[in-house]
Amino acid sequence: MEKFNIKNYRDNPFEEFREWYLPVETEALENFNAVALSTATASGRVSSRIVLLKGYGDNGFVFFTNYNSRKGEQLRENNRAAMLFYWPRFHKQIRIEGSVTRTTPEESDAYFNSRSRGHKFNALVSPQSREIENIQELLSDLENRTLQYRGTDPPRPANWGGYRLIPDMLEFWKEGIDRFHYRVEYRLANGEWSKRLLAP
Ligand SMILES: Cc1cc2nc3c(=O)[nH]c(=O)nc-3n(C[C@H](O)[C@H](O)[C@H](O)COP(=O)(O)O)c2cc1C
Repeated sequence: MEKFNIKNYRDNPFEEFREWYLPVETEALENFNAVALSTATASGRVSSRIVLLKGYGDNGFVFFTNYNSRKGEQLRENNRAAMLFYWPRFHKQIRIEGSVTRTTPEESDAYFNSRSRGHKFNALVSPQSREIENIQELLSDLENRTLQYRGTDPPRPANWGGYRLIPDMLEFWKEGIDRFHYRVEYRLANGEWSKRLLAP
C-alpha cells in the first residue's frame, strides 16, 4: 500500500470525493450510488434510510424524493442532515454532514423527465411514508393515472423533487491493517476548508 500522507489529499474535499467516487461509479455495481441519509426532527429524533445519489459537485450532493415524506417533513423542520457511504470492495467510508436545500424546480424537472414512465407514475400516486388502507387502492390509482396520461408523460408533481446536501464536514475513511485506519476530516469555517488527521 502506498505510504499514507495527508498532503496527498486534495485541499478541496469535493475533488477528493470525486477521486474516491469515480472508481465506484466506473465499476457500477448494483446500487453503487446508494447512500444512507440521516435526518432529524426539530427536537433531535434521528432517522436514517437509503436514497440514491443522483448528482454531486462543488455545490453539494443531490438526491430525489417526496417532499411530504417523513424525511421531507423532518427536513422542513430541521435542515441539518448527514450522508454515509460505505464501499466494502474499496475498504472506504465517507461521512458527510451539512444543511439541505431543495434543488431548483428546473433541476427537479430535468431529473423527473429522465425517469422511466413507471417511475414517474409511482411518484405521482404514492403518498410516500403515509399510512395507506390497502395496496389495491394505490394500484387502481396508478391504473387511472396511466389512463389519464395515455400517450403522454405526466408532469412532475409539485411535492416531488430534489434536495441538495451542502456540506460543512466530510470525513474520508480508509481501512488500514489491524484496525489502524486512516481518517481525514475536512471542515468549513469562514468560507475556508481545512483538513486534519483523526485517530482511528
Ligand atoms: C437501494 C435503495 C434506494 C432507494 N432510493 C431512494 C431514493 O432515491 N429516494 C427515495 O425517496 N427513497 C429511496 N429509497 C426508499 C427509502 O429508503 C425510504 O424507504 C423512503 O424514502 C421513505 O423514507 P422516509 O419515510 O424516511 O421519508 C431507496 C431504498 C433503497 C433500499
